[in-house]
Amino acid sequence: MMWQPAQFGSIRLRNRLVMAPLTRTRANDDGAVTELIAEYYRQRATAGLIVSEGTWPTLQGKSYLGQPGIADTAHVDAWRQVTGAVHSAGGSIVLQLMHGGRVAHPAITRREVVAPSAVRPPGHVRTASGKQRFPVPEAMTRAAIAELPLMYAKSARRAISAGFDGVELHAANGYLLHQFLAANTNLRGDEYGLEAGGGRRVVTEVAQAVVDEVGADRVGIRLSPGNNVQGIDEDYQTAADGCRSLALDLRPLGLAYISLVWARPGDSLSRDIGSAAQTSIVVNTGPATATTREEARAVLDSGAADAVAVGRAFIANPDLARRWAEGRVENHPDQATFYVGGPRGYTDYGVLPG
Ligand SMILES: Cc1cc2nc3c(=O)[nH]c(=O)nc-3n(C[C@H](O)[C@H](O)[C@H](O)COP(=O)(O)O)c2cc1C
Repeated sequence: MMWQPAQFGSIRLRNRLVMAPLTRTRANDDGAVTELIAEYYRQRATAGLIVSEGTWPTLQGKSYLGQPGIADTAHVDAWRQVTGAVHSAGGSIVLQLMHGGRVAHPAITRREVVAPSAVRPPGHVRTASGKQRFPVPEAMTRAAIAELPLMYAKSARRAISAGFDGVELHAANGYLLHQFLAANTNLRGDEYGLEAGGGRRVVTEVAQAVVDEVGADRVGIRLSPGNNVQGIDEDYQTAADGCRSLALDLRPLGLAYISLVWARPGDSLSRDIGSAAQTSIVVNTGPATATTREEARAVLDSGAADAVAVGRAFIANPDLARRWAEGRVENHPDQATFYVGGPRGYTDYGVLPG
């Protein structure tokens, strides 16, 4: 199954092995990607589909130093070298649109930090002047929330102009859209609050605007029920039920795929979501341990997903598809170089000869 091609909307996958979105913080200070970044993605083009690292649609949504943007025409021009390199190597690539919401710092964005509610995330972020605690975000005004769909739609249009095969909305892992969905980050009492179904509505309205702009056959979305990172504190059942409801809301949109970070492939959630939204499902088994070939194969064989997303093994093995197809030994990812600049631990992992 892993080596069969697939079609998600208009996105063609030459196999079922998806390179998961991976923030690698090597973009220029202005958010433009570089030749080095193009080379990194080109090396990995034998994945069935590459999902780019989380990319900010607007500077206010930038979470980390070195994260790329898709907020202006200079970004578009720079990304063209990435999409061109991947397509020349026969691959497919979508851009992950990621607004960090409260996971941001004014020392990085020179903007105020905004979120559904004024709830500070735990932990620290690296800024040019050292590690700093995340600030308490400002609760977004209703007017600012109402502007989100257009902002995402414009960025999706830029991504398509840059040559991407589609976009993936990041509604997972504790960033802005997930903050609208989770009870401990969305305390709003207005129409955007959870009581009024507002979290799901924000996500659906953003998705609808993006679909209207670039076509449903080029739009996916990532969700992470029960993956409590970045201070999200949801119990699994509530989160999973919320995703089932969201999938029903998304059904009329006809999305190309839904991608799940989901550590419990034993239960029926991915199938429930696929049938509720009537779309293809990508599963990633979560951050606890790096996905292995056996795990990926088990997910596909169980029918829990149409494709499997793999992160760390792809960092260390540009030719992961070949290694897994041939059962060859793998390089191990070096965590110490995940987020440092330059080619070390980025484009210098070896490939099999021949
Ligand atoms: C270095 C690193 C960066 C990541 N960046 C992103 C990101 O930008 N967007 C996202 O949705 N997930 C991100 N993730 C989560 C991965 O997509 C994936 O879910 C996680 O690594 C678990 O899969 P694995 O066990 O195959 O590595 C990141 C993970 C790592 C290790």
